[in-house]
Amino acid sequence: MSAQEHPLVTAYRQFSPTSESLAERTQAVFPGGDTRSSAHYDPYPLVIDSASGCRMWDVDGNEIVDFMNNFTSLIHGHAHPDVVAAVRSQVAKGSAYAAPNTDQIELAELIAARVPSIDQLRFTSSGTEGTLMAIRCARAATGRQKIMKMEGGYHGSYELAEVSLVPFVDGRGPLEAPASQPVDGSFPESVFHDTVICPYNEPDLARRLIANHAHELAAVIVEPVLGSMGMVPATTEFLECLREATLDHGIVLIFDEVITLRLNEGGAQTPHAVTPDLTCMGKIIGGGLPVGAFGGKRELMQLFSPERERPVMHASTFSGNALTMAAGLAAMRVYTQADTERINGLGARLREGFNQTFAQAGLAAQMVGSGSLSNIHFTNDAIHDSRDSMAAMVGAGHISRLLHLGMLRHGVLSASRLMYCVSTAMTEGEIEFAITALNETLQELRPFIEQDRPGLLVA
Ligand SMILES: Cc1ncc(COP(=O)(O)O)c(C=O)c1O
Repeated sequence: MSAQEHPLVTAYRQFSPTSESLAERTQAVFPGGDTRSSAHYDPYPLVIDSASGCRMWDVDGNEIVDFMNNFTSLIHGHAHPDVVAAVRSQVAKGSAYAAPNTDQIELAELIAARVPSIDQLRFTSSGTEGTLMAIRCARAATGRQKIMKMEGGYHGSYELAEVSLVPFVDGRGPLEAPASQPVDGSFPESVFHDTVICPYNEPDLARRLIANHAHELAAVIVEPVLGSMGMVPATTEFLECLREATLDHGIVLIFDEVITLRLNEGGAQTPHAVTPDLTCMGKIIGGGLPVGAFGGKRELMQLFSPERERPVMHASTFSGNALTMAAGLAAMRVYTQADTERINGLGARLREGFNQTFAQAGLAAQMVGSGSLSNIHFTNDAIHDSRDSMAAMVGAGHISRLLHLGMLRHGVLSASRLMYCVSTAMTEGEIEFAITALNETLQELRPFIEQDRPGLLVA
């Protein structure tokens, strides 16, 4: 602890002394004290001992309601009894056969029956691998190389999937033609040549960019809700425009539904009534175990068929492993359309309650999102793309971090970027609990907002 440490950070340390003592060990073995940068937060994350339903208990015995759900992947929260039983039964029968098994077939059939764009699919071990394989499929199908991705879009842990994820002001270029920007020093030049960046939720600009680059574009990849940059929903008009323009020019349209599949039994493509050529999935379809998938039109997916001469390569040791398939099938069987509607309603109530609380506190802040997916932004301006999210993030400074730590002390976990998602393990009770926690946390924060960020107070 430093002499000038913020009093609310000190309060967090007092709340979690055992996690703090373990942080010394994690700092020694992991760079920055964590095995996963996205899950890390300052001064150290809580070390979790156990979890059940929508609750987790840390090593100090604090009970936390989990609104993060491993970055939206735990659709039923933790340790759903059906998933536990399925995994327990499967693990005793072996975990990976490198051969088809009936759970694998049934999970694939369930997904294909629900998601309109999917005739056939392939499982992968992560969402990252799902988007990677979809892009390879598009390149093989079109013989073209470049990929259009959205500014602020995230598709996994490789450079092409992360380029221009964060629209840093210096170097992002004009909204009409955003530059391909690295997020760190690891990006090869080739990635900038291979990508065309599209502004999100700008149908006219997108149409023009697609037409200008049509001869070199294999695919356009888009998230129906911009997840990592603040849960910004796409408009139906935008998705329809991408569909029309890609059809006009023979470009493969890929929906990355790794996060948004939870919004409807058929994914976000169902309520938008826009059908892509390929869909990438992950997170909820693994029942809490590592997973990914990609699927789509039969003629595209047939490019992977081993019966073809020189099929598109697709290996991956743990794809479709029996343990993930058992967990995923158990979880998806009990995730019905009625469940999607119930938790989407809880998400709407969460946004309403948070927005009322921000307004009562006189703060320029809002929660936006779609269905069970939400994110806080410190601004009253409309959030319509990643540039808006970025401006709000910069404006909030350290207040976001203090809100995150404060909510933890009041028993509510979100992602440190203030993303919240609802699981089926939740009821109105947990939503009201989170709204009360926000109210209490904002009261503690108020003096520091007045002192450090008075611009966030509404006159
Ligand atoms: C929209 C989207 N696509 C792809 C991925 C990559 O999935 P995974 O982390 O399973 O590799 C993520 C992960 O958060 C994601 O949010």
